Amino acid sequence: MKIIMLGAPGAGKGTQAKRIADKWQIPHVSTGDIFRANIKQGTELGNKAKAFIDKGMLVPDELTIELVIDRLQQSDCANGYVLDGYPRTIPQAESLTSELNKLGESVDYAINVDVPDENIVRRMGGRRACLTCGATYHIAYAQPKQEGICDRCQNALVLRDDDKPETVLKRLDVYHAQTQPLIEYYENQGILRTVDGTMDMEDVFKAIVDILGA
Ligand code: AP5
Ligand code: MG
Repeated sequence: MKIIMLGAPGAGKGTQAKRIADKWQIPHVSTGDIFRANIKQGTELGNKAKAFIDKGMLVPDELTIELVIDRLQQSDCANGYVLDGYPRTIPQAESLTSELNKLGESVDYAINVDVPDENIVRRMGGRRACLTCGATYHIAYAQPKQEGICDRCQNALVLRDDDKPETVLKRLDVYHAQTQPLIEYYENQGILRTVDGTMDMEDVFKAIVDILGA
């Protein structure tokens, strides 16, 4: 099964993508996590990406498209994947469609996690992220067992640099301008499904399971 997660920054794409990946035993491919891992390791890609991410802007398509196409060709993706944070622009979506077409394949579902902007700003300040394994928590809605420590890998949790309120507002602007048009793109392909992302995490997941057919 090939799934795309759509939604504003902080809508809960990562939270739900991890659960989908666990339940369906497919890899969770998050471009944000790939960039953050590269930033942490100080790679050339990481240094280039950081300049854009810290400003709340998108990393240019030239740096992003090839990276994802390569990742999806790895053997663990043979039975499908859940893509989180990709595509984010029409050129990214078009390239994904055409790469899959070459293989006679296509995306099965684009799941749009719908959350209004007002809720987003409130959520982001409370998020804590593990930059080692990509897990996310929330100081009120999804607490780790031990404060400040990742349940999965026991590394320290941090407030992401791009979760400062002014950067979140910029990310929302960029989302509306560049990523929201993908909703229509996938609606036209007949694979868009929208879930109400303001429900609690468990209910959002139930709605997704209903769509994907457990
Ligand atoms: P990325 O890491 O993808 O960030 P994002 O899209 O801004 O999304 P987030 O990870 O911030 O939010 P999320 O939807 O995953 O929400 P989460 O589950 O954590 O990208 C970062 C940057 O990298 C981009 O800004 C861009 O610069 C660059 N980039 C990445 N991909 C790119 C691409 N394809 N092209 C170009 N540039 C790219 O949830 C948020 C919080 O809310 C958490 O604390 C969570 O615990 C909580 N929460 C989740 N669900 C609920 C709920 N139902 N109720 C209450 N709280 C909830
Ligand atoms: Mg995320």
